[in-house]
Amino acid sequence: MLVLGIESSCDETGVALYSTEHGLVGNQLHTQMAMHAEYGGVVPELASRDHIRRLVPLTQACLREAGKNYADIDAVAYTQGPGLGGALLAGSAFANALAFSLGKPVIPVHHLEGHLLSPLLADDKPAFPFVALLVSGGHTQFMAVRGIGDYELLGESVDDAAGEAFDKTAKLLGLPYPGGAKLSELARLARLGRPDAFSFPRPMLHSHDLQMSFSGLKTAVLTAVQTVRTDHGGGLPDAVRNDICRAFQDAVVDVLLAKSRQALLHTGYRTLVVAGGVGANWKLRTELSALQVRSGPKSPPEAVRTYFPPLPLCTDNGAMIAFAGAMHLQAAQAAAGFSVRPRWPLAEIVR
Ligand code: KG4
Ligand code: ZN
Repeated sequence: MLVLGIESSCDETGVALYSTEHGLVGNQLHTQMAMHAEYGGVVPELASRDHIRRLVPLTQACLREAGKNYADIDAVAYTQGPGLGGALLAGSAFANALAFSLGKPVIPVHHLEGHLLSPLLADDKPAFPFVALLVSGGHTQFMAVRGIGDYELLGESVDDAAGEAFDKTAKLLGLPYPGGAKLSELARLARLGRPDAFSFPRPMLHSHDLQMSFSGLKTAVLTAVQTVRTDHGGGLPDAVRNDICRAFQDAVVDVLLAKSRQALLHTGYRTLVVAGGVGANWKLRTELSALQVRSGPKSPPEAVRTYFPPLPLCTDNGAMIAFAGAMHLQAAQAAAGFSVRPRWPLAEIVR
């Protein structure tokens, strides 16, 4: 079975082909980063228009890459949401029109489910059940994942997402859009500097639940930047800026680390899957890869297996949508057949 996946929820147009027999056979991506950079953020109208321009050529390139034709496609999956309305409409209109013209099914996919399942595209895949930490520009959530389609939200950020905090902090440090990855690279440069040059709060670290908060962190950074500027005649020396990047990243990673431990202890699972753009962060990857948990103060440390999607699949892409679509199609085919539900509460109807 060959599934075409279309991703257009924000500023990346992704088109991929996933074969249930051969895995990912085509994966094309166009990022609009350069186009939005001069505005300092995503301009929704420009994003929608660019998706419209890119979808057909990217699909053709994807088919060429895979050595396939339109007629070989068995289903078309697309990101239904969440995301920018106009951008989603571009992908959805294209996917539905293509599926209709081919006479093939169309599969709407939740963007976060795509991220959640993306580590299953790696050679070394996690087994169910696992805890998923979704850390993107729009969401920071812990989910218990028991199987395809069996997800439970355990906790999330009550305000800004971690990626959003990275981007907003980068902006106030004067870094070009999108600043998250750049901030993390500057934090790497500061490793040789003083580790305690700045210390930022770890919000909700001891809240005893899996809720998180990141919006106060950027305010703490803003206050620190204002103090530095006052002391340096309005300037922000590079070395000091890098120290701030490091302290900010340390604070975010500490919170995510502590909450990951808590989520693993709460579920009893010992497998952690990290997905979403912030999953590309080197510090988070290093710390979570060495994660251990203790069920009690005197219990021995237990190892945790941590899985990340391949780096290019951490941020938005069509491969995760094609894969999620293929999993849904397989599940629907397996479930198809003859069954009745003598006890069926009306509230269980999912539309
Ligand atoms: O998953 P994604 O591509 O898009 C959303 O669905 O939001 O994630 C994008 C987010 C942005 O906020 C970006 O700054 C952040 O991921 N990001 C990073 C890094 N690379 C991307 N944040 C921290 N460190 C990075 N290396
Ligand atoms: Zn995303």
